[in-house]
Amino acid sequence: MHANDFHEKPFDEGTLTKLRIFELYAREWLPVFLSAERPRLPKIHLFDFFAGPGTDSSGQLGSPLRLLRQLKHYQERGGLKRACVEVHLFDESKEKTSQLKENIATHGLQLPDLTFDVRPLAFSQAFRNCERILEDPEAAKLVFIDQFGVDHVTPAVFRTLVSSPICDFLFFLSSSTLYRFHDIPAIKQKIARPDDYFHVHRAALDYYRSLLPSGMRYFLAPFSIKKGANIYGLIFGSAHPLGIDKFLQVAWQSDEISGEADFDINRENIRPGEMLLAFEEMRPSKISAFDRELEHLLRAGLLVDEFDVMQVCFEHGVKRQHAEPVMAKLKREGVIDLDFRVPDVRRSLPRPIRHHRRGP
Ligand SMILES: C[S@@+](CC[C@H](N)C(=O)[O-])C[C@H]1O[C@@H](n2cnc3c(N)ncnc32)[C@H](O)[C@@H]1O
Repeated sequence: MHANDFHEKPFDEGTLTKLRIFELYAREWLPVFLSAERPRLPKIHLFDFFAGPGTDSSGQLGSPLRLLRQLKHYQERGGLKRACVEVHLFDESKEKTSQLKENIATHGLQLPDLTFDVRPLAFSQAFRNCERILEDPEAAKLVFIDQFGVDHVTPAVFRTLVSSPICDFLFFLSSSTLYRFHDIPAIKQKIARPDDYFHVHRAALDYYRSLLPSGMRYFLAPFSIKKGANIYGLIFGSAHPLGIDKFLQVAWQSDEISGEADFDINRENIRPGEMLLAFEEMRPSKISAFDRELEHLLRAGLLVDEFDVMQVCFEHGVKRQHAEPVMAKLKREGVIDLDFRVPDVRRSLPRPIRHHRRGP
């Protein structure tokens, strides 16, 4: 069979959402490690372990070509000169790998100054081969694992990812399947039955969170995707506040109601745009719950600077910009004093929040 005879069926809406999020995140990620303001890291490695052939049957771009498209944009702006960038694209199918090579060439994405590592490799072997790179503290890594089902991101793979230095990852899973497996004793102990089936991907995230080494400070965030009756999702992970900040910006761009789903995950019936109305009942429950907690913590004097505020944002899965109204209100009321409106994730020294003492 000639490589081009091989066709993937057209991507559905959920797949396109997943690919858009991956591409938007890659676009945000590249300048963090390649921009001139940063101390130079000698190596950048980008991994797509389930790369596929590069396009669907209608020519829509798959994950590897989207990644290369973002690298191309960045290169055109002169951004790739400073680092040694290697792109690893693996798929167990030989046919898909050779079609991918053709697609890279026909789409003009055989970029100069990049090292390409495009090979037919099954995930378990490819991941083992790359562990050295993942462990390298001198290399920045972005990992995308677009598996079918749930089998490949085992607890061991997950722990390798979270303990790899300077490594952000996104993996996809069929959360409904993981949930159905909750009868398997090892998983049953760990995965809670959510009250609402719409929340199975959150339950899946909690399961992975339970695999984090105890005491480890690590940021994880979910994005749920519904296809028919099944719920799938992306799980994002980063050890760095800047990583989770960028992911949340991308996620809220894709879902302005909850920042975490391509459907009405909290069954609120609020349509995009409606939340611009000032009515309290139009305020998404996720944002209201965050507002209440932030206000409580600030009134109790428990948050002393902008980093503390950001931590609350990340725990609730909201953007740091969401903290602005509550901070402004408490400043107006004279409860706190501060010299900023939105916490800034890039500062090395956080700006303080001063708490006014009340009388006895
Ligand atoms: C969901 S598709 C990935 C699509 C791709 N990310 C894209 O955007 O087009 C899954 C791909 O994984 C490949 N695959 C399935 N099992 C695999 C394994 N164990 N190791 C590596 N690749 C595998 C399949 O050949 C298929 O191309």
